[in-house]
Amino acid sequence: MEPALTQIGVQMSQLTGVRAIMKDIIATLEAHQGATFINLSAGNPVILPEIEQLWRDCTLDLLHSSEYGQVVCRYGISQGYEPLIEAVITDFGHRYGVQLSGRQVLITPGSQALYFLAANVFGGYTHAGQLKEIVLPLSPDYTGYGGICLAPEALRACKPYLEVDEAGHRFKYRPDFSQLQIDAGTGCLIFSRPCNPTGNVLCEAEVQKITDLATPFSIPIFVDAAYGPPYPALNYTPATPLWGDNLIHCLSLSKAGLPGERIGIAIGDERVIQVLEAFQTNVCIHSGRYGQAIAARAIRSGALATLSEQVIRPYYFRKLQLLETTLSEHLPDDLPWFLHRGEGAIFAWLWLRDLPISDWELYQRLKQVGVIVVPGQSFFPGLKMDWPHSRQCLRISLTASDADIETGMGRLAATVTEIYRASPPGEG
Ligand SMILES: Cc1ncc(COP(=O)(O)O)c(C=O)c1O
Repeated sequence: MEPALTQIGVQMSQLTGVRAIMKDIIATLEAHQGATFINLSAGNPVILPEIEQLWRDCTLDLLHSSEYGQVVCRYGISQGYEPLIEAVITDFGHRYGVQLSGRQVLITPGSQALYFLAANVFGGYTHAGQLKEIVLPLSPDYTGYGGICLAPEALRACKPYLEVDEAGHRFKYRPDFSQLQIDAGTGCLIFSRPCNPTGNVLCEAEVQKITDLATPFSIPIFVDAAYGPPYPALNYTPATPLWGDNLIHCLSLSKAGLPGERIGIAIGDERVIQVLEAFQTNVCIHSGRYGQAIAARAIRSGALATLSEQVIRPYYFRKLQLLETTLSEHLPDDLPWFLHRGEGAIFAWLWLRDLPISDWELYQRLKQVGVIVVPGQSFFPGLKMDWPHSRQCLRISLTASDADIETGMGRLAATVTEIYRASPPGEG
């Protein structure tokens, strides 16, 4: 049967961004069964034994408690499982000195769902037919923002400016405030901090400046802290949440070892939270309560925050250092390669300036030497201009073994060097 789809049906049945590339990666791996690929594309976090144990212990505790039946055999309120909301409020109160009310927290089935709710509540067409934009103030950013709006034309990303350390082979994206137009036509802003794919962390002054621009128009700003503190604390530079009337702090427990349980947490103004909650009721009633109940335990005991800082963060930070040293050893100093400053998340982001081929062609070349990375162009959702830079980057996952990172980076360096040498600048 060929089902007839609506406009939204067609739009939503298409894979966007990195999900489209993942299809190619899976097909490659299946077609070459037996061949050993070094897969540096994964976004799935590593199963760390201490973290798995934490969730096992919390599950056992739940199983043996009188709460069990109430958790799995009952519906609950859409806002989320009350003990988890209470645990978050208490934890944030102690940690950041913020006094939150019970109406300021919403639990969603993963944070991707939260951005979908936010994008369609605040972005798209108003009753009067005005298009309200969802602005991503710093492109590149999370590929998942590419598919969240039912009116896709509402998504607009801003080109950044680049701070480049030529000698050190490092760079950093910074918001270009001359590009960041925020006005009555802006519905909301979203950015990830730390950022997937780049590992960038917008500094406090930058977040404050964005907030100052949005405040006069009462525009909500969703700060996606899927890699931020206090859990999973995958920040290698300070990334303390900022508070303000229009700032919505968004967490995910996926990178804290619970991606399968789908838990997102939004903390912010009660009126924003209520609208999102009502939308959630219409979509799915509420997030699963088993995951919420074990999360409540891990947050209440303090174990999740402690293990995030003592196990999760050092694990990926060491991988990042290994990748940086391996690339520096293998990539010649005279080539224009630049790693984004590693300030957080679980990826490295490599920019190959003036690369004679596109990132997609490089991805294909790397597959031929058994290395899989993600071409960068999937990470520029909403960028409406043609920017050659967006075809000169790669995302490299830090979830691989040490040996795979070392071998993979060695092969990548050899391939990239060969490509540059075959077509020196000025001859391409
Ligand atoms: C920056 C960022 N935000 C949000 C998400 C969505 O995560 P989840 O829906 O598992 O909470 C991801 C997933 O990789 C991400 O990298």
